Amino acid sequence: MNLKRELDRRITEALVAAGAPDRAQALVSPSARSQFGHYQANGVMAAAKKLKTDPRELAEKVIAAADLSDMAEPPEVAGPGFINIRLKPKWLAGQLDKAVRDNRLGVGRPDKKQTVVVDYSGPNLAKEMHVGHLRSTVIGDALARVLEFVGHDVIRQNHVGDWGTQFGMLVAYMESLGDREGSGLSAELADLEEFYRKAKERFDADAGFADKAREYVVRLQVKKDKNARRAWERFVEQSLEHCEQVYRRLGVLLIGSDVRGESFYNDKLPSVVEDLDTAGMLVESQGAKCVFLDEFKGKGSDGTDLPVIVQKSDCGYLYATTDLAALRYRCDELKANRILYVTDSRQAMHFAQIFAVAREAGFVGKDVRLKHVPLGMMLGGDGRPFRTREGGTVRLMDLLDEAEQRAFKLVSEKNPDLNEAQRSQVARIVGISAVKYADLSRNRTSDYVFSWDKMLSLEGNTAPYMQYAYARVRSIFRKEGLDETAAEGGVVLGEPAEMDLAVKLGQFPETVQAVADECLPNLLCGYLFDLAGAFMTFYESCPVLKAPDKARRTGRLRLCLLTAKTVRSGLELLGIETLEQM
Ligand code: ARG
Repeated sequence: MNLKRELDRRITEALVAAGAPDRAQALVSPSARSQFGHYQANGVMAAAKKLKTDPRELAEKVIAAADLSDMAEPPEVAGPGFINIRLKPKWLAGQLDKAVRDNRLGVGRPDKKQTVVVDYSGPNLAKEMHVGHLRSTVIGDALARVLEFVGHDVIRQNHVGDWGTQFGMLVAYMESLGDREGSGLSAELADLEEFYRKAKERFDADAGFADKAREYVVRLQVKKDKNARRAWERFVEQSLEHCEQVYRRLGVLLIGSDVRGESFYNDKLPSVVEDLDTAGMLVESQGAKCVFLDEFKGKGSDGTDLPVIVQKSDCGYLYATTDLAALRYRCDELKANRILYVTDSRQAMHFAQIFAVAREAGFVGKDVRLKHVPLGMMLGGDGRPFRTREGGTVRLMDLLDEAEQRAFKLVSEKNPDLNEAQRSQVARIVGISAVKYADLSRNRTSDYVFSWDKMLSLEGNTAPYMQYAYARVRSIFRKEGLDETAAEGGVVLGEPAEMDLAVKLGQFPETVQAVADECLPNLLCGYLFDLAGAFMTFYESCPVLKAPDKARRTGRLRLCLLTAKTVRSGLELLGIETLEQM
């Protein structure tokens, strides 16, 4: 059960019964300090203001009208009109008993199931994936997992950059190497960065080749020449294979059928422009076809009105045109109710514009929710964009190699008894998780400084800390060879530390729901970190295996079991693997 939502519903009802307007809200949230109660309703003051009445008096009335007796102790008014709520141990214990038996851990189903399109990762296939793709890939994947878990139909879309002039150059270069089907080319393509670099070098140095490259763009995109197409397909396939290697290594769930790149929309672009024209929205400006909307008046860099250009004067289409076609496809064909675009925040204006154009043109149903989920940048220790020592972009593959190497050193120091294969296995999981978790645990909108030492630390809100906490809970069972049946019985909540842990455990459903609503995976990381902390305090003050009696031993084991399950599920939702032993 979503405790917060349940309390909110009941107190809001009481608020209305006490005379507040229909739209009044209880605004219940968990309290930061449990000594004042577990939850607090903050909405009484605003309601009192509207009613022009004393907030404390209104709060008293709300308490009298509220029906909370099964789940909470009698609430108390605090400060200027807050209502503090303490859950009843017995009721909470009952909730937790249910949660342990439920593989959704008490997370309910949505009132209305939605089809949610999550657009994430979307690398440019002309080159290899680099650190700039990490955040979208990792955060997008976590959001897709969470939305699925709370019961929505999720459609992942990998909007890869597989179209445009760069591909003319690459395909022309492929052809210049001859031997189109042979293995020589495969070897060349094995290192895409190098391949791109060479093609570009040739393009810049050799005018004849540059012309050829431009001709290839036309052959590929306009004339639909079969040979050019085949060469392009070969290139894209190779590049996607590389992306999939990265995804597998990262434990990201994107697969081949999620790829719907820019090329997919190529045939749909003319009709986007035609329909905008029919809607009377097109204006020609310096030969280009543009849409000007009131919202973007004066928003240009020099204070001019900002257009959305959908076709250039040379008839070429743009990133925005493709996104308009994609938006339509997602609404019409994929039947999306909600679309999330997980990209860096520098694209905020682009999405604001295409959302506005699509709405105005009626490409999107009124009740379809569109959301850009903006991401800050990953910075190096010097506070500038993260780069190699030589100043180049860091390939994701190299970053992950380094993560595993560093984790291997760490594991070897901490756990020299494990054999080499075991240490590699642990290092792989810890290293990759550390990189992912460092990203997930920050508020996604802010830039963050990439630090190996911090992310691999066993202290603080890190992957190794969480994985260690999980292994520690599991070790309680392992110590005496216990399995889950040892925890069969009821949760008993007597000690304050037991109650604190129990309240945290009870907050899993509302946390997962908040991540789904606000697209903020860091809320889940923060929650798991607090949960681990509550567990450590409990474990220090309440003996489990040596509990004073059988009922308390079983009850505590049951809390341990639910903690393990919650941490494991929570980490899984973030795409982080756990280890039974570390
Ligand atoms: N390929 C784009 C980039 O590298 C990201 C694609 C985001 N999705 C979209 N529908 N525009 O920045």
